[in-house]
Amino acid sequence: MTTKNIRFGVWAPVHGPRAALQDPAEPFDASWSHNRKVVLEAEALGYDSTLIAQHTVNPHLPASDQLEAWTASAALAALTSRIEIISAIKPYIYHPIFLAKMALQIENISEGRFALNLVNAWNRPEFEKAGINFAEHDDRYAYGREWISVVSRLLRGETISHTGNNFNISDYALTPKDLYRERPRIYVGGESEPARALVADHGDVWFINGQPLNDVQSLISDLRQRPRQGVALRFGLSAFVIARDTETEAHAYHRHLSDLAAKDSDIRAVQKANSDPKVVMLQTMAKSPRIGSNGGTAAGLVGSYDQVAERIQAFHDAGIELFMLQFQPLLTEMRTFAAEIFPRVRKITRTPAQAKYSEVVR
Ligand SMILES: Cc1cc2nc3c(=O)[nH]c(=O)nc-3n(C[C@H](O)[C@H](O)[C@H](O)COP(=O)(O)O)c2cc1C
Repeated sequence: MTTKNIRFGVWAPVHGPRAALQDPAEPFDASWSHNRKVVLEAEALGYDSTLIAQHTVNPHLPASDQLEAWTASAALAALTSRIEIISAIKPYIYHPIFLAKMALQIENISEGRFALNLVNAWNRPEFEKAGINFAEHDDRYAYGREWISVVSRLLRGETISHTGNNFNISDYALTPKDLYRERPRIYVGGESEPARALVADHGDVWFINGQPLNDVQSLISDLRQRPRQGVALRFGLSAFVIARDTETEAHAYHRHLSDLAAKDSDIRAVQKANSDPKVVMLQTMAKSPRIGSNGGTAAGLVGSYDQVAERIQAFHDAGIELFMLQFQPLLTEMRTFAAEIFPRVRKITRTPAQAKYSEVVR
């Protein structure tokens, strides 16, 4: 759905439901076939993008299924024709050369629709049980910064030699290059100071965790004030949506999902114990009750169809271009959003001249 630069995306169900794990209306399903069905239908409905989160072990239920992001992204690239496919990556788990090679391959399979989302990890056991050191928060970012500087140049088709704290590379180039554009797009998800510095220097789009409009405005204004080379940074927002005919119905469903989510408190406690407490994303999410991951309902997209459309417009005016959405039950709600919200947003979208974001959109 291309409406004055607003784009909508859907989080793929890579590790099951986003809000509540024990929901009779959304049985756990992290299979490839379910993910394929969701993404193909999202594309058919007019969604512009999908985010394939990267976890090797299910972060909520370690004994349950977890989709593998990169192999699944390659398959999705071959099966789809229009939707953007964003695959998350934690720098420590792949050497930058081999990751850049995979990214270029998926970019060319998709004919120019692939993007990577650099995320610097929070789930300790995922690394430690594999014998990989889970470095301190800012050290992970220092590693990620060196890593993306190498990846980004390889993606651009440069022949590189690099000597740094972590990598020693001589005279390396990847062929074929990106056959469709300069390089795949680079998103960054992370809220801490080193995350912001990294996205200002190396990212194309900053993914912000769902949170109230004022907070999102401050984050965007901080990033816009930072020195940066090349085109302006763009912004994406993660959010969990509950949209209904009336506000009352939406809040009733929110309560219903919150009650179901409360049944997962033991699971969440394990997840919290496994998390790096220095991760700013988790500190932000602890500020207000919410359901869904990555801020979820804290972005306030819970209300009548009209209210949700208006709030999307307000975020868009603040600078958000891509809305990466979570729903539960996913397929039903994703269809309703497309039927009810797409046309409303199209109707109320202000002209670019009226909207502040137009200054920064490429
Ligand atoms: C939109 C978005 C998507 C994310 N996807 C993943 C993911 O796929 N895997 C993961 O381990 N972390 C993911 N994260 C969380 C980041 O790893 C987390 O923000 C990171 O630990 C950075 O911490 P910081 O907030 O302290 O900068 C995501 C974050 C955002 C905003």
